[in-house]
Amino acid sequence: MKSNVESQATSILLVIAGAKGAIGTTLAAAAANLCHRPQTILPSLTTTELLHGLDVPVRMHVAGWDVNTTALDDLFSSHGVLPEALWRPFADELRRLPVLTPPQENLLLEERVKRLCADIRSMRRHYPGARAVFVNLLPAAPVSDLSACTSLEALYGDPSSAAFTDLAYVLAALQSGLPVVNFTPNDLELPLITAEAAKRQLPMAGCDGKTGQTYFKVVLASAFKARNLAVDGWYSLNILGNADGKNLMDPERAACKIANKTELLDEILEYPVGKPYGCCTHKVHIAYYPPRGDAKEAWDVIDFKGLFGLPMSLRLNLQGRDSILAAPLVMDLARWMTVLKRTGRSGSIPELGFYFKRPKGPNPPLTFQDQVRALQRLAQQCRRDLGSDAA
Ligand SMILES: NC(=O)c1ccc[n+]([C@@H]2O[C@H](COP(=O)([O-])OP(=O)(O)OC[C@H]3O[C@@H](n4cnc5c(N)ncnc54)[C@H](O)[C@@H]3O)[C@@H](O)[C@H]2O)c1
Repeated sequence: MKSNVESQATSILLVIAGAKGAIGTTLAAAAANLCHRPQTILPSLTTTELLHGLDVPVRMHVAGWDVNTTALDDLFSSHGVLPEALWRPFADELRRLPVLTPPQENLLLEERVKRLCADIRSMRRHYPGARAVFVNLLPAAPVSDLSACTSLEALYGDPSSAAFTDLAYVLAALQSGLPVVNFTPNDLELPLITAEAAKRQLPMAGCDGKTGQTYFKVVLASAFKARNLAVDGWYSLNILGNADGKNLMDPERAACKIANKTELLDEILEYPVGKPYGCCTHKVHIAYYPPRGDAKEAWDVIDFKGLFGLPMSLRLNLQGRDSILAAPLVMDLARWMTVLKRTGRSGSIPELGFYFKRPKGPNPPLTFQDQVRALQRLAQQCRRDLGSDAA
């Protein structure tokens, strides 16, 4: 259903948990560029074409929370993602963005949710009429098992929920009527949370953004599958030197990310890689390497077999930029969320599997071809639902 405020919106408001991190600050600069010189950003988005004609506001604003109290514009140098020319012209407006200090973690979960809801109200007053979307960009967290909680009351009463920082933010977002983008590997999409989203008619997209190495892995794995070339082993190594890389050196925090990067290969190929050896020969390693900062590098060595089982090998070397690959995906996802909310879609949206390592929802598309087709079909469905002229 199109509400008046939503249909008259002239901008999208990204309400970000972790707004001063490498991706958050890149988004803030990208949003400023989008407002002042949109042609520097729009060609890098997948939704510029896909959602054309669906009344998606071009302008974006950034608000949110971060435990880091350094002024946002002072963080560009330490993150080392963007050259000065891309943020310095907007330094004053970047400094004034409403990025708040979150409530203390020792407060009860319910109390934190209340305070975050009040924060969201104040952020929305700052940008009246904007379509607000919550984006989770908190650091990767250890796995929390909250599957036994089947009601909000049980969740509020479970002591282990207090340690899962992301929960308070997602609950506050849903209670405030915001769709959710979970770009982190953290398992926010508990049945209870997706049910809450469905109850409130809000879409959710997650989880774990598929930005660089894993994006190309899906493309290549789909190509091997289409040609019936048998993958015998796949060795993936990543080096990165940003805060995310440092955080991922904690094995408990890296567990979900490694699992997400690993499991999708067997799922795409529909056989367990390494079966003839009696062990998985798909290996994924992440190493923190400070000299590289955000400019991550990834190597893949793929051993595969062709006709008569004769062996061949492929090497791939990606010299990427973590946050430069991530920020446009977050912008795309926020644009999708505003459209999907207007169509009345709610809960996890598996058709957005193109953007994620571990897409949530029933039967997400797995191969690259299916993921691209699913996006195109979803856009067509939105056109039909919204009665767009572009249908
Ligand atoms: N860059 C990529 O390509 C990529 C791909 C997939 C997933 N991700 C995930 O996206 C997330 C963000 O990545 P990043 O590189 O921006 O990380 P980052 O470490 O640079 O940023 C995280 C931010 O969260 C803040 N923070 C920590 N605890 C907080 C709290 N309780 N409340 C509010 N803020 C808090 C930190 O101060 C920091 O500014 C990570 O979970 C990462 O694994 C990144």
